[in-house]
Amino acid sequence: MDTIIVGATEVAHLSKSNGENGRIDGDFMLNREAHVSEDLAIHIKNGKIVKFTSNQEMIHEWGIPSKSNNDLNYIDVEGAAIVPGFVDAHTHLLWEGDRSNEMAMKLSGLSYKEISEQGLGIASTVSATQKSSIDTLIQIGKSRLNRAHKMGTTTLEAKSGYGLNLDTELRLLEASSALEGNHVTLHHTWLGAHAYPDGKNKTEWNRHLIEEQLPSVIEQGIAESVDVFCEPGWFSTETTEEICRTAMSEDLEIRLHVDEFTDGGGLSLAADLGARTADHAGFSSVDARSKASDAGVNTGFLPGTPYVHGDPFSTNLGECIEEKWKWSLASDFNPNCRSLSIPFVGSLAVHRMRIPPIAALIAVTTNAASTLNVEYGVGKLVEGGVADLNILNTNSADGWCLMPGDNSVKKSIHHSTL
Ligand code: NIG
Ligand code: FE
Repeated sequence: MDTIIVGATEVAHLSKSNGENGRIDGDFMLNREAHVSEDLAIHIKNGKIVKFTSNQEMIHEWGIPSKSNNDLNYIDVEGAAIVPGFVDAHTHLLWEGDRSNEMAMKLSGLSYKEISEQGLGIASTVSATQKSSIDTLIQIGKSRLNRAHKMGTTTLEAKSGYGLNLDTELRLLEASSALEGNHVTLHHTWLGAHAYPDGKNKTEWNRHLIEEQLPSVIEQGIAESVDVFCEPGWFSTETTEEICRTAMSEDLEIRLHVDEFTDGGGLSLAADLGARTADHAGFSSVDARSKASDAGVNTGFLPGTPYVHGDPFSTNLGECIEEKWKWSLASDFNPNCRSLSIPFVGSLAVHRMRIPPIAALIAVTTNAASTLNVEYGVGKLVEGGVADLNILNTNSADGWCLMPGDNSVKKSIHHSTL
């Protein structure tokens, strides 16, 4: 099947990169002219972009069919802008339960850590998730993927982590695998080391993770990456290193939660380990940021989380651009931060953290994709690459993140549907 897309006022193709794996870093993130074209029509065949031409040439070649037929899918976007499909490279997709009651506790002055010390927070989601059947988890996952896709996400990383026992962790990863084929490309991550179960001896739990959970996950081949919540009060850098080195020896990749509430040395460890990405990192030192970038390790910022905590945004994204650090943005969708909207993340980056929309777009597309092993072209629009794209509700590509609380995406297209 051939698909022709014409009539866009702007197409943000992001096809020119200045880093590895299609990354765009430093000042080049701000060079809008290099990343956006005003007259670009797209020819797609069987889900891959075959060719870009001017609108006039495309219309000349294909005529103006009055309507699509069985052999041709003809889309006139009537002035709408087109951007690559969004890549949400940090989500906790699967869990059951409701923690709305924690909001009032937060407002009364309790911190995230204090709430978790009362047996709430992650532990409360865990008890609901442990009771959840695989069918329920799959249904929950489908509905969440559907929501994410409506808001433009075409690739998504999904972590386990709310199981806190072997059976439930494996069930979460099985459910995650069963969600393939729902118009969002998935990447599965085992986050067994998300918290310590209540009353469990820490050393014993660490041994359980390394000697029982990790080998089972490897044997079943249901995760591509491993994550650890590396933070003072949760998993130490020593334990994180041991879990990661064991996982790496079995060819799993490393994605970490680091330095979310304080600088615990997590980002520096991620650099030593050669992680694909180290996320949150709000309190990492400047030295650790440089060290990570020099080691080719991405830092994934998750502004939705400080937003729901009512905390200031501790990261200066302008400095990240100036210093040419490697970074991206993601949703961190979880029971505490329940937004799957990448355009909302973009709004926080632009309206609150004051970077231009084009830089924020790069951070949720090609730079996020560079942390995952994905098909050629994910996170950009390039000839020969997969056709994952969003037709916006605005004529300017910048509009992708300028409609907070509303959906800037008119139609999100995953290549598997073309
Ligand atoms: O990335 N910080 C660790 N994990 C999640 C939140 C977990 C939860 O509160 O349920 C995060 O923000
Ligand atoms: Fe997270």
